[in-house]
Amino acid sequence: MSEGAGIRSGIAPAWTEVRILSAEEAARERRALSEILADCVAGGASVSFMAPFGVEEADRWWGGVIESVAADLTVLFGGYRDGALFGTVQLGLDVPPNQPHRADVKKLLVHRRARGMGLGAALMVALETEARRRKLGLLTLDTASPEADRLYRRLGYTETGVIPNYALFPDGRFCDTTIFWKAL
Ligand SMILES: CC(C)(COP(=O)(O)OP(=O)(O)OC[C@H]1O[C@@H](n2cnc3c(N)ncnc32)[C@H](O)[C@@H]1OP(=O)(O)O)[C@@H](O)C(=O)NCCC(=O)NCCS
Repeated sequence: MSEGAGIRSGIAPAWTEVRILSAEEAARERRALSEILADCVAGGASVSFMAPFGVEEADRWWGGVIESVAADLTVLFGGYRDGALFGTVQLGLDVPPNQPHRADVKKLLVHRRARGMGLGAALMVALETEARRRKLGLLTLDTASPEADRLYRRLGYTETGVIPNYALFPDGRFCDTTIFWKAL
């Protein structure tokens, strides 16, 4: 998939589109990206941040991601429904020199208004397509979300194990984290 090119996934409904976002496109979509992240934290997702976590804080965090995209250390995907951005995921390429064949799957996020319609799966399919195009052979990730856990298993990811009490939910409760991998 070329930079900026769209793909339509067989899993997702026809009106769902996933595209790679350049740093400039991500900067234009920064408000929507921030709203998606803030909504996921407000919904209780353990994705690095503690409540309360507003759009302004999310915006600051996206600034760093956009810099990483500009530096070619992150491939950022935008998931659209009917032309509006509702989801995102990142292929993290900032790996040590001895792991050039590997990338991290980071921050798979879908706004609560657009869940359960295949956007999360479509984002992951697009990410894997791009990872294969880059000749990457291994994807790794971790999650504390039961919804994401089911999605990754459905897409063929293997559980390495669970680390109890690895992180916190936004409200301060401990949560377990599951490590997954998939060979491409
Ligand atoms: C995990 C997450 C990204 C999934 O996004 P999503 O867009 O809802 O994912 P999908 O729609 O592909 O799949 C969700 C469910 O909808 C179902 N579904 C997908 N398309 C459907 C359709 N057309 N009709 C009915 N159901 C459908 C899937 O089978 C799946 O069912 P399951 O939960 O029973 O397994 C989302 O829940 C999220 O953002 N969570 C908060 C952030 C988070 O925790 N991210 C993970 C970080 S590792």
